[in-house]
Amino acid sequence: MCDDIAMGGGYVLDTTYTDRFFRELSPVWLNYVAALNGHPPRPTDRPFSYLELGCGLGHSVIVNAGAFPHATFHACDVNQEFIERARRSAAELGIGNVRFHPKAFEELAADHLPPLDFITLHGVYSWVGPEARRAVRDIIDRRLAPGGLVYLSYNCWPGWALEVPLRRLLVELTATGRGSTGERAEQALEPLATLSASELRYFTAHPAAVAAVESYLSGPSRYLVHEFLNEAWAPFYSIDVAEEMAAIGLTFAGSATLVDNHDPLVVHDAAAEAVRRLPTPRQRQLAMDFATNRRFRRDVFVRAPVPEPGAREDPGAGARIARILVGVAGNPERLSGQLTVPRGTIRFGDAFVRDLRALMARGPTTIGDAVAELSAARHDPIEITRNLIFMVAAGGLMPFAAAVSPPADALRRRPANRAVARILEHAVEDRSARAIPSGILGNGVVIDPLDALAVGEWLAGADDVAALAARIEAEITRRELYTTDEGVPLADPDDVRATARRVAERVIDDRLPGLIRLGLIE
Ligand SMILES: C[S@@+](CC[C@H](N)C(=O)[O-])C[C@H]1O[C@@H](n2cnc3c(N)ncnc32)[C@H](O)[C@@H]1O
Repeated sequence: MCDDIAMGGGYVLDTTYTDRFFRELSPVWLNYVAALNGHPPRPTDRPFSYLELGCGLGHSVIVNAGAFPHATFHACDVNQEFIERARRSAAELGIGNVRFHPKAFEELAADHLPPLDFITLHGVYSWVGPEARRAVRDIIDRRLAPGGLVYLSYNCWPGWALEVPLRRLLVELTATGRGSTGERAEQALEPLATLSASELRYFTAHPAAVAAVESYLSGPSRYLVHEFLNEAWAPFYSIDVAEEMAAIGLTFAGSATLVDNHDPLVVHDAAAEAVRRLPTPRQRQLAMDFATNRRFRRDVFVRAPVPEPGAREDPGAGARIARILVGVAGNPERLSGQLTVPRGTIRFGDAFVRDLRALMARGPTTIGDAVAELSAARHDPIEITRNLIFMVAAGGLMPFAAAVSPPADALRRRPANRAVARILEHAVEDRSARAIPSGILGNGVVIDPLDALAVGEWLAGADDVAALAARIEAEITRRELYTTDEGVPLADPDDVRATARRVAERVIDDRLPGLIRLGLIE
C-alpha cells in the first residue's frame, strides 16, 4: 500500500463514505434474530442502551435513536468530521438521545459507558487492523450486559476468493496516481481494465474476475475507495470470528440477513443435506458459507453460554417466537403472495395470503395471535408459523416494535413531527435515499428522492394520481432530478412523464398508506 494515502490509523479519511441507513442495526431487528434462534430479546419498551462503533455519518444510529426516544444511544467514530456532521444532523432533526464519541475504539474502552443492551458495528471489522479489532472486542467484553446482543458485519470467505488478488493489484496501481484516494482509484481503473481485457491468464481462468473489474468500472469510485483502499482489508472465516467472540463469552445467535436463518430458502436440498450430514456445528457453519459462496455476513451474537451438546431445547423458545410482533410496512392490501429468496420464488397459498392481508389491515400482531386467528380460518398452525417466519425472511412482513391500530380519524395531512418533514426535504435536496424513524416499526423507513418529492407534493394538496403526477413531472424538470427510480438518467420528456405517473401511483397506492399506518403522517 502506498504510504501517502490519507489515513487515520489505517483508515481512509479523504473520501467521504456513502451515507446509508442499514435496517439490520435496529434493536427490534436484532431482537427478532435472537427470538427466532431461541434467545431472549432485550426489552425495548423501557429505557435501554445501545452503542454503534464506527458510526460514520451516523445515519443508522440517529434514526434508531429517533425511533426509541426513551433509550440512550452512543455513537463512536475516529473521524472527527463524520462525528461533527452526525451531531449536526441529529440536532437538526431534534433527536437528542445520542451521545457522540469522536475517538478511536482504542480510546473509547476507557470512557465511562453504561452496561449496554446492544453493540453494533457495520462495515467496520474487515476494514480495520488487528489492534482496532482487539479494541472492539475489549469494549464488547467490558460493556455488553449479560444477555446483550452484538451485531457484527464483515467480509467473509470463500466469496471474496477471486477478488483478493484484484484488490492487491488495485492497491498497487493506485500507488503511482495523483490526488485524493478517490482520484487515484479512478486513475487505477484504466490500467486495471486494460489488464483484464488483455488475456492475462488470471482473467482467462476466472471469468468472474473480469466481471468484477467491470462492476468496479460501472460503480462509484467512492465504493472502491472504502471497500478496498484502506490499509487494512481482510475477509474472515466466520468460524474464526465466532471463536474470537467465544473467547469473550459470546455465542453466535443467527444472521441479521434474515433469510440466512433458513437453509431451505437459501440452498438446494442436495447442498443442505450434504451440509447437514457434517458432524459438528463448526463444520456445518463453514460448509454453509461454501454452499452460498458467501462474501458478507451480518452476524448476531449474544452474551450467553453456548448450549451444551445434546441439551434439551429451551422450553421458552416457542413462546418467544409467539410473542414476536410482525406487520406490513406498506399497504397490507399489496402484500404479495410470491416473494423472492436466494433459492428462487416462494409462493404462499392464495387463501393464506388473503386471510393474512385482512389480518394485517388491522395492524401489527404477534406471531402467536396471528397463528390463533389464521388457524381458526382452517389453516394448519405449524404451517402458519413457518409461513409467517418465511414471509419475514423474504421481506413481505417486518418485525415491529409496537402493536398500534391504524388511525381511524380524518387525516390532518401533515408530517407527524419535525424530523419527518426535514428528512423528506433532505431526500429531495440531497438526491439520496434517507430513512425516517418510526417508533411503531422500531426502525427506519427508507424513502428515495422521488417518493419523498411525491409525498411532499401530496402533503401540499395534490391528492389524486393525475394531479400528483403533474406536480412530480414539473418538479423533476424544475429541480433537474433527471433519473428514473433505478437511477438511469432521463433525457426524454416522455420518460419523465411516465416516471412521474409510476411514482404517483406507487406513492398513493402503497407508500402513503404505509407512512400513515406507521404514524409518520397524520
Ligand atoms: C466503512 S465505514 C462504515 C461506516 C458506517 N458504519 C456505515 O456502514 O455506513 C468504517 C467507519 O469506521 C471508522 N473507523 C475506522 N477505524 C476506527 C477506529 N480505530 N476507531 C473508531 N472508528 C474507526 C471510520 O472512520 C469509518 O467511519
